Amino acid sequence: MKPFLDISQLGKVYPSPSGAPAVIVENFDLKIRQVDVITLIGHSGCGKSTVLSMVAGLTDVTSGGIILSNREVVGAGPDRGVVFQAPCLLPWFTAFENVMLGIDQVYYTADREERRQIAEYYLTVVGLADAMHQKPGELSQGMRQRCGIARAFALSPKMLLLDEPFGMLDSLTRYELQEVLLDLWQKDQKTALMVTHDVDEALFLSDRVVMMTNGPAATVGEILDVTFPRPRSRKQLLEDPAYYRLREQLIGFLEERSHHRPVRAAIPAADNLPPPSTPPRFHRFLRALAPA
Ligand SMILES: Nc1ncnc2c1ncn2[C@@H]1O[C@H](COP(=O)(O)OP(=O)(O)OP(=O)(O)O)[C@@H](O)[C@H]1O
Ligand SMILES: [Mg+2]
Repeated sequence: MKPFLDISQLGKVYPSPSGAPAVIVENFDLKIRQVDVITLIGHSGCGKSTVLSMVAGLTDVTSGGIILSNREVVGAGPDRGVVFQAPCLLPWFTAFENVMLGIDQVYYTADREERRQIAEYYLTVVGLADAMHQKPGELSQGMRQRCGIARAFALSPKMLLLDEPFGMLDSLTRYELQEVLLDLWQKDQKTALMVTHDVDEALFLSDRVVMMTNGPAATVGEILDVTFPRPRSRKQLLEDPAYYRLREQLIGFLEERSHHRPVRAAIPAADNLPPPSTPPRFHRFLRALAPA
């Protein structure tokens, strides 16, 4: 069976002002089935957002290709709902009006009442029933993110793309919104690709965790199957020894592939100090540090 999202040999190269082009992602292969929830995890700067942004059609691919539901991805479109770390809401519109903006574009054949019901439904599911007529400036960060999630789901995209959607939230709000997402995924049976830095979030939400190697030329390192039954409860997961095994595997991968460990600078031995041309004060400083 053909995958719902087929990412083949994907590559991204940026030109660099210094000359040699920067190869960010190379030979990135990933097949996603319909209704799969996949998280993408890896070190900062490895290229997670670059991959997501290419799937969203917001960044051009350099090589390879992306096929979503038998169609090649070229440019952004309403078949992919995108949620970023901070939602871009128009400040002069209420939460409801912000959600309606997209609905008016996508469901232009539906009548006004139907469109209003869609917006209200999703705003209610994410917990904004009482605040939907407030403007973004009157909402907390978590409430704004709820609005961003409602807007993405309300357009009924084929697929959701989420880039660290809870990265800026405190852990309690993050837990709450993870439950909101799980609930919405359960109800709407959506396929999703989500970038996260959080190992526990990845295990709680996804069916598979894709671990990216470090850049340059980052690619898929390992894929971890997460087979906990759904609907999931955090409490049940935390009581399951399998959870800790998977967690260890994930952390192990992230530690092994890390290039970011600080390297302890070697202190030269006393008879190995720099030549006399070194400024005397620096020389004295090094001599003070040098082992006898
Ligand atoms: N427009 C651009 N031009 C040049 N280089 C870029 C551009 N956008 C991203 N990069 C580089 O691509 C690499 C990957 O960036 P990306 O944002 O995809 O990383 P990330 O894995 O999402 O990191 P983080 O976890 O910190 O969000 C980085 O080295 C970044 O400097
Ligand atoms: Mg990123």
